[in-house]
Amino acid sequence: MFVLGIESSCDETAVSVVEDGRKVRSNVIASSLEEHILYGGVVPEIASRRHAECIEQVTKQALKDAGCELKDIGAIAVTAAPGLIGALLVGVNFAKGLSLSSGIPLVPVHHLRSHVAANYLTHPDLTPPFLALIASGGHSHIVEVKSWTDYEVIGQTRDDAAGECLDKSARVLGLPYPGGKNLDAVSQHGDPHAFQTPRPHVDGSDYDFSFSGLKTFVINTVHHMEQTGETPNVEDMGATIINAVVDSLADHTERAALDRGYDRIVLAGGVSANSFLRKKFTEICEARHWTLAMPELQYCGDNGAMVAAQGYYEYMAGVRAGLDLNAKATMAIEASF
Ligand code: KG4
Ligand code: ZN
Repeated sequence: MFVLGIESSCDETAVSVVEDGRKVRSNVIASSLEEHILYGGVVPEIASRRHAECIEQVTKQALKDAGCELKDIGAIAVTAAPGLIGALLVGVNFAKGLSLSSGIPLVPVHHLRSHVAANYLTHPDLTPPFLALIASGGHSHIVEVKSWTDYEVIGQTRDDAAGECLDKSARVLGLPYPGGKNLDAVSQHGDPHAFQTPRPHVDGSDYDFSFSGLKTFVINTVHHMEQTGETPNVEDMGATIINAVVDSLADHTERAALDRGYDRIVLAGGVSANSFLRKKFTEICEARHWTLAMPELQYCGDNGAMVAAQGYYEYMAGVRAGLDLNAKATMAIEASF
């Protein structure tokens, strides 16, 4: 079955056709990134306007690249939460219009579930149950994925997300948006122990994260150096902060897997593109003889293919939305639409 996946939760207008949740037939992404660089971060209103302008064209291109027409599509999957509300509403309303005019069933998809599903595109044998680390610009979750549609968050950040911490650190160090990706690139040869960072600690939970202390550490250190006429070494500071974030993500995930008896680990979300994170998890999983799945780099960030992949499994589980479907800025990964 062909599923059309529509994603507009942030600054990517992305539409894709995926067959049976696994085979990508097309994957078209239009991004308003260039405009946001001017402001050092995503400007929600600009993102929404660009979605409105290009979503029809992106959808036509996705169908064309897949060599099919709307009548060949079995379900229309759309990201309905969480994300920037104005941005989400463009995708949701477009999907509702398509569904109404064509009679094709509408399937709402949770953005973080779709990040996990990005792995189904690359790993044909991957099936739940497994333990997932989802690290993106807005979320850092350790999740038990019990079935295609049954999730339980067992650890999460108490303050900033991992991606947010990396983005803000990059900004303070003078790197352009998107910070996390640029910080990864400049830190390749830096010394990860050049600075002593605070050790993120959260009372009362073995698996929860806290990244705001690390962010504050970078801001204070850089400002202090500037005031005393020193120039921060961006490579070393970048490697140090990434190392601290990755250590925390990896430590907690490893502990959760041991405690809960998982030997299959899945990485997901934009931060799963990070080279240090990928290396660290590869080492852990090799040493413990665990299976590791990571999305291909092109599916780590927001895309329509992951929405179509998760949409397929939601459809198979009987999930449908009516024309009263609304977008939500926040929503737990466990919840139903
Ligand atoms: O999943 P995503 O594309 O959007 C959200 O759902 O938030 O994640 C975006 C986040 C940003 O914080 C971005 O800086 C981060 O993923 N990111 C990276 C890398 N590529 C993207 N962080 C670290 N290293 C990277 N290579
Ligand atoms: Zn995302």
